Amino acid sequence: MQSTEHVVVVGGSSGMGRALAAELVAQGSEVTVAGRSTGKLDAVRRELGVPTVAMDIGVEQDVERLFKTTGTVSHIVTTAADISGAYQLISEYDVNSARSAVDSKLLGPLLLAKHGAPLLEPGGSIVFTSGIAAYRPGPRASVVAALNGGLASLASALAVELAPIRVNVVSPGWVDTPIWQHVAGDATAETVAAMAARLPAGRIGRTKDIADAIIALLRNGFITGTVLHADGGHRLV
Ligand SMILES: NC(=O)c1ccc[n+]([C@@H]2O[C@H](COP(=O)([O-])OP(=O)(O)OC[C@H]3O[C@@H](n4cnc5c(N)ncnc54)[C@H](OP(=O)(O)O)[C@@H]3O)[C@@H](O)[C@H]2O)c1
Repeated sequence: MQSTEHVVVVGGSSGMGRALAAELVAQGSEVTVAGRSTGKLDAVRRELGVPTVAMDIGVEQDVERLFKTTGTVSHIVTTAADISGAYQLISEYDVNSARSAVDSKLLGPLLLAKHGAPLLEPGGSIVFTSGIAAYRPGPRASVVAALNGGLASLASALAVELAPIRVNVVSPGWVDTPIWQHVAGDATAETVAAMAARLPAGRIGRTKDIADAIIALLRNGFITGTVLHADGGHRLV
């Protein structure tokens, strides 16, 4: 009998990662959720009944501790991002404020692959989360665009280096989650509504749209080194 699939979701205490964790639990998978805030993790543990690990994806000792806790795993996913200081005009960019974005979105995934790949079961895979800013950047988005674009190259390189482990990226379009407070603040509702009207899909994304896209990448054994765009057609408009 095949053992139960075990998926680690870093960033699973909010937004898309939270939706992914919920969907996997509903499908009978074991899930470990990781993130920094113990308050958010407590809520996930209570609501989904999954184990949680408090850790910062950008800190190598934390990533090592995460995998000591989990042992062997089937898949590793990160939706973690701290982009709180990352959106700035280039003319006044304070480089230090970009570091938490670089750590959480690019170096963190690198650390997950470094310490997680040796623990992956046969057929296992890794999924990173990039985003539409790489393909349709607006002003102030240079760092986020660069990080999202970099993840595609990181996944390509790791798909070759770590084969047969599959390494993929999901690139979400706009999805109304708490992260928007850092992007548009009080203007979030009107900004998001205006985009919904422009998109071929006629709406912005739901967290479950992205969860389903990630699950497709986990389950399809012939997809590796690719970017799956779940963006409602945003790249076309
Ligand atoms: N929402 C959108 O419209 C959109 C569009 C394109 C791309 N994306 C990308 O999609 C991904 C998910 O975004 P979301 O909207 O679901 O964001 P979210 O609701 O803010 O969730 C982010 C999660 O990551 C965790 N996290 C942040 N920094 C971390 C760190 N250093 N170490 C460990 N965990 C960390 C957060 O918990 P703690 O803060 O407690 O650690 C939280 O659980 C991100 O990569 C984002 O850039 C989002």
